Amino acid sequence: MRVVLLTGKGGVGKTTMSAATAIGAAAHGHRVFLLSTDPAHSVGDALGRPVGARPVEVAPSVVAQEVAVLDEIERSWSEIQDWLRGLLREGADELVAEEILVFPGLEELVALRAIREVEALGEFDVCVVDCAPTGSTLRMLRFPDALAVFMGGVFDLERRAARALKPILETVGLRGLVPGDEVFAAFERLVSDVDDVRQILLDGDRTTARLVTNAARVVVDETRRSFAYLSLYGVATDAVLVNRLLPSAAQGGFFARWAAREHEELAALEAGFGVPLLRAELRAGEPIGVEALAALAREVYGARDPAAILQRGRPLRWRRVGATTRLEIDLPHVSKEEVEVAARGEDLHLRVRDARRAIALPASLVGRSVQSARLERDVLVVTFA
Ligand SMILES: Nc1ncnc2c1ncn2[C@@H]1O[C@H](COP(=O)(O)OP(=O)(O)O)[C@@H](O)[C@H]1O
Ligand SMILES: [Mg+2]
Repeated sequence: MRVVLLTGKGGVGKTTMSAATAIGAAAHGHRVFLLSTDPAHSVGDALGRPVGARPVEVAPSVVAQEVAVLDEIERSWSEIQDWLRGLLREGADELVAEEILVFPGLEELVALRAIREVEALGEFDVCVVDCAPTGSTLRMLRFPDALAVFMGGVFDLERRAARALKPILETVGLRGLVPGDEVFAAFERLVSDVDDVRQILLDGDRTTARLVTNAARVVVDETRRSFAYLSLYGVATDAVLVNRLLPSAAQGGFFARWAAREHEELAALEAGFGVPLLRAELRAGEPIGVEALAALAREVYGARDPAAILQRGRPLRWRRVGATTRLEIDLPHVSKEEVEVAARGEDLHLRVRDARRAIALPASLVGRSVQSARLERDVLVVTFA
């Protein structure tokens, strides 16, 4: 099953474009599942008909669903939630407990886990995902790293400590503080779920992201950063969708300067990413309903199949060059000063602006230090001593 993730800054038209992509893919003969994971669900608004937590057919060959994240968390990890509530009740360090409760990225991850369930149905060719604004999507991508740290460090220790402390805590009536086996089991399920979702997201033969943007400086800047962050986390972007461009009929008078600015931003976008730039004009009214969305899909995708991989890429790759192995990451519009690279133990630690990632080093490179990290034509190349 193909997975198409649509993300971008708030309000640029993610939901509208997701719904149009779904309708367009169905017009190309695909069986489509349209999944909304943005907590501010509005797929129903765009389609002009109700969509909820249960899958519902919204057009021929298009089924839509909004993920109820809190219910999902409760359903899957109630043991963890109960334990955490216990911790809070027993007056454990509230800050610690709260930090665990709001595991950054957990919500998004739970939402994306729904992709796996759609796939398991075996009835769909493509799952189009209306994601939360870019920030949250990226938090979700970072989540596996955060969880690995938590599980490896804190939790192993806790598990060992829990065994030793259990009798003592029970005697003094603080039994709620000891995580029971069911809590550990729930955490283990969480880790395996995270891993499954990660596998799907990082599989460039299956999953691609599309960045929705407007031709305005502030939005384009965020789009550039998002593109780089997605690369850093290994997610391939296969198109940039520029929405709400001023139609030529509206480029005079007051809007002449807006139009001029748009042309500049479009030129920058065109030079920018090495993926197809698809466009949609501002409509005279909101594109609501299946008809309007189908027309929008035709405008955006032309003869292209919206479910196709519009550009194949492996944004993050290990390459053998001669006798050495190097890491390459596509990072357009990133400057040298914004990147930090260091090998520590079994991981390579990368920072691009405020996004960090630890990548496991291939066995042959463990223990080596970074020889050089340079940007060569929008690609970060890391070599090892
Ligand atoms: N090309 C367009 N022309 C006119 N209105 C649009 C267009 N694309 C989106 N809209 C409208 O803009 C608003 C925000 O779009 P929406 O898809 O909900 O954005 P997001 O999901 O990014 O928050 C909605 O009212 C939508 O109908
Ligand atoms: Mg939306």
